[in-house]
Amino acid sequence: MTVQHENNSGSSSKGQIDDSARRKFLQMIGAGTALAATGFHGSLLANPGLLNAAQRGGGGGPAVSPWRSDFILDRSRVFMNIGTAGSMPRKVVQAYNEANIEKARNSLNGYGNYADIRQRIAPGFGVGADECALSYNTTDGMCSAVLGIPWKEGDVIVTTNHEHPGGNSPMAVVAAKYGVEIRRVSLPVGPDVQPEEIVQLFQDKINEGGNVRALVWSSPTFLTGTMLPIRRLVDLAIQHGLISICDGAHLPGMMNYDYGALGVDFMSGAGHKWQCGPGATGILVVRNRVGPNNPLPLPAFFPVSSAGFGPSWVRGVELNATPNFDVAAVLCNIGSRNRPSLEALADACDMWDEIGRQEIEDYILGLSRHLKQSIADRWGRQALVAPDHPELLSALTAFNPFISSNGEVNPKNFNSSESGNFVSRLANDYGFIVRNTSVPVPGIPNQFPLRVSTHLWHSQREVDQFVDAAWQLANELS
Ligand SMILES: Cc1ncc(COP(=O)(O)O)c(C=O)c1O
Repeated sequence: MTVQHENNSGSSSKGQIDDSARRKFLQMIGAGTALAATGFHGSLLANPGLLNAAQRGGGGGPAVSPWRSDFILDRSRVFMNIGTAGSMPRKVVQAYNEANIEKARNSLNGYGNYADIRQRIAPGFGVGADECALSYNTTDGMCSAVLGIPWKEGDVIVTTNHEHPGGNSPMAVVAAKYGVEIRRVSLPVGPDVQPEEIVQLFQDKINEGGNVRALVWSSPTFLTGTMLPIRRLVDLAIQHGLISICDGAHLPGMMNYDYGALGVDFMSGAGHKWQCGPGATGILVVRNRVGPNNPLPLPAFFPVSSAGFGPSWVRGVELNATPNFDVAAVLCNIGSRNRPSLEALADACDMWDEIGRQEIEDYILGLSRHLKQSIADRWGRQALVAPDHPELLSALTAFNPFISSNGEVNPKNFNSSESGNFVSRLANDYGFIVRNTSVPVPGIPNQFPLRVSTHLWHSQREVDQFVDAAWQLANELS
């Protein structure tokens, strides 16, 4: 196990190797060192047409993000798939490595309920430590929430057709185990979707009747990046006396949300994506207050995996235990865990709190807005698969690069393998790492848009370079 050593400029030794390889490459193609300073990576420079376009315009803002040197990311590529995996900041991964070595040297165990770490993390999310459970990831948190509710045959969950398997799977379990009906809203897709429209669709599904007990949805959805409006959906849940469960895989580290104010019963987020904690970390917010933000009684709920359960914590069933009982302690007490990884998650959260979560949200949503606008300028607004309504905005941008500038849909739009090829070519020929998704669209076959994440280590200029690369590739392939 090696720890990356820093030099005084803040770049890693690995970064230096990449830089020198890039300089050699530039000399080979005759681009010279002046261009190396612009921050373009080698694979972009391999393409003279794109180089000229980027040199000419390049967009505004600094060439390099002010936070770029805080990360050890390989400089020969631009990582724009944070929706799948983040990257630990340099100081976080160094401390993590050291803590692992310390753990091995002293044969340390990982028992406990991690109150100290929960106290560090919880304020950044607007909740108490008793409401901030540390899960292994989003899927684990969704399983805790969905499987922890005592369902009865005939209960109905209203959800959407854009849920991730991490949420769909526990819902399928309760459907199979208890006979719960999973009723799905068919989400609208495209740039013009409005928040009211989404809430109305949930309302319509509630109106279909039966014993509706919960709303389960993703904010944002992983397929299009649409930020389903949490507070509006919680209001709807309160109006109908329902449990609210938000798959917020992408929320920690992306949005400066106060979950106490949002009043959601459960929010399961990842620690390893936008929050840039280590793998196998997640944050599960469990509402533990009755108040103006959510006056409903706390829903009956049991831990699925726990070494800390006893009748004193049962709530909403026989004992109706006091709301301030430390629910998160029961959920975190699950045998020996890897304390260094939870400490590293807290370190990443501390870094976010120090920078300012609002500043981070503004920066990365600013990049997302810029990307969406640039896509609309090049391809036309209809290329956007996600809405650009400010309330529905996230730092995930899904778009269809096969739509031509005159607005006609290219048939390749519907071809999964073409979309996969596009993702591979962007990575191999241009160095941009993104992913694609398969989106059900009412009335037509699935679309396979690219999904692009914008985060702290990106600059506006890199976003412009990405747009140039995607445009050039689209022209070649369409
Ligand atoms: C909306 C959503 N939910 C759940 C997951 C699963 O995340 P995890 O790996 O943290 O369980 C993802 C992963 O990308 C996701 O996008």
